[in-house]
Amino acid sequence: MGWSQERLESVARTRLGGAKLIVVANREPYIHRFRDGEVECIRPAGGLTTALDPVMRACGGTWVAHGSGDADLQSVDARGRLRVPPDDPSYTLRRVWLTKEQEEGYYYGFANGGLWPLCHQVYARPTFDPAHWQAYQEVNEIFAAAVLEEAQGGPALVFVQDYHFALLPRLLKQARPDLVIAHFWHIPWPNPETFRVCPWGPELLEGMLGNDLMSFHIQYHCNNFLETVDRTLECRIDRERFAVERNGQTTRVRPHPISVDPGLAEKYLSDDWEQRAKQLRKRHRLGDRTLLVGVDRVDYTKGIPERLLAVNDLLEQHPEWKGRFHFLQVGAPSRTHLPAYRDLNDEVQTLAERINWEHGTPNWQPVVFLNEHTGPEDIFLLYRMAAGCVVSSLHDGMNLVAKEFVSARTDEQGVLVLSRFTGAARELTDAVLVNPFDVRQTAEGLLAALTMPPDEQRRRMRKMRQQVDEHNIFRWAGHLLSEVGRMVEPTSTPEPLGMTPPSEDEARALLARYQSLDTLRLSMGIA
Ligand code: G6P
Repeated sequence: MGWSQERLESVARTRLGGAKLIVVANREPYIHRFRDGEVECIRPAGGLTTALDPVMRACGGTWVAHGSGDADLQSVDARGRLRVPPDDPSYTLRRVWLTKEQEEGYYYGFANGGLWPLCHQVYARPTFDPAHWQAYQEVNEIFAAAVLEEAQGGPALVFVQDYHFALLPRLLKQARPDLVIAHFWHIPWPNPETFRVCPWGPELLEGMLGNDLMSFHIQYHCNNFLETVDRTLECRIDRERFAVERNGQTTRVRPHPISVDPGLAEKYLSDDWEQRAKQLRKRHRLGDRTLLVGVDRVDYTKGIPERLLAVNDLLEQHPEWKGRFHFLQVGAPSRTHLPAYRDLNDEVQTLAERINWEHGTPNWQPVVFLNEHTGPEDIFLLYRMAAGCVVSSLHDGMNLVAKEFVSARTDEQGVLVLSRFTGAARELTDAVLVNPFDVRQTAEGLLAALTMPPDEQRRRMRKMRQQVDEHNIFRWAGHLLSEVGRMVEPTSTPEPLGMTPPSEDEARALLARYQSLDTLRLSMGIA
């Protein structure tokens, strides 16, 4: 049986058995901000929030996040809570407020100036500042207090997201040993030699070993993590079971490659998409020329300058393509408070202008750079309009743009040019795989996208779509939930999470839960 939102809903209900689901992620799924004197609600750029929102819609529960919008405070109750999504409230968003200094030290400083470059190893030197570390510890404590409040002393499964919260699991376990804690690290984990430059490495690992389950996208990152722990802390490593035992606690380490909700494409590509495509072509003076697209936050891990250099190389090697296609880059500004990100934004602008100057004409500019926040409706439209999508990350845990593009192509057309250095490249082997550091090879990848016959496109796209359909976000969450759900102490009366009473099948499953959790697990086919 395939994984759908409904199946995840039912697994969550039986697995959690009345325990609360609390997700902690720094970024909130809905941001309220002021625009022209009005409050608007936007969806942030980045794969994490887009991927997890459908999971929360299915499972219910609470998402604890930093309230980062300038109108966020206006939109919540006295405890910082509101029900989301705004048009179909199905779970609670609990906003946590941080001072500017805390945001500077914890988010910009330690998380994005230290851990982000440390884990990605893309030749951006990580910086480690004691003041940032101080703020990182402080903010992890603030989030721990918010989670404990949300758990209200009852059973809960806390699902921690990413590198912003390495210390949180230990803090929670110390306060409430009965909480079940799982952590998903959305970015790569480096090898021990790289990791050891972090002055607070042992503290970070100690924090992460507060988890019952520590999960990464791929086995390679799990191996790196286990090696790092082995070389840094006194502990017992069980290589058979892939687990770490320390101070009487066991942390299992497992790969769970994240994915997307394949249904989102249909939701965002409404019936009028062709009409909207015409307007978009007019707005950006694209005529009826072929389109290649890139969709990213402007981040130095994404290889945006590298792909522009490949566009340049393509135009030099194959001048017959001049005037016949556009490379449209959606580049959502990101973390611009950090100099490395501001500089990159400038670099991309300058490079785009240079290529346009060199090859362009008054009527045709090869590169169109949309350096602004772009909503999912337009992004899915572009995926659908494009002959190809280019993902050229220099190093990426997964890269969900690759999977979103595939999910948008219900027409089984379009070519994915994909960096070998993404987690996605291990699953989407029918993409045109390139090394983004190799400009000529990437240029050839672009040419392949411009020239691939429709039959070949269909053959490859069909296989990739099958992969994404089967290994979707509901399967990811279902597998994670069932792995840790076994540890949640059943409450006496498990409350159904949804409004509808359980069906006969679900009631039987609930009953089985109390008889034998493993039997239940097998019966649901999620062993
Ligand atoms: C990456 C990180 C996420 C983050 C996203 C957007 O995917 O793994 O944790 O939310 O980038 O970045 P931002 O800093 O804007 O949240």
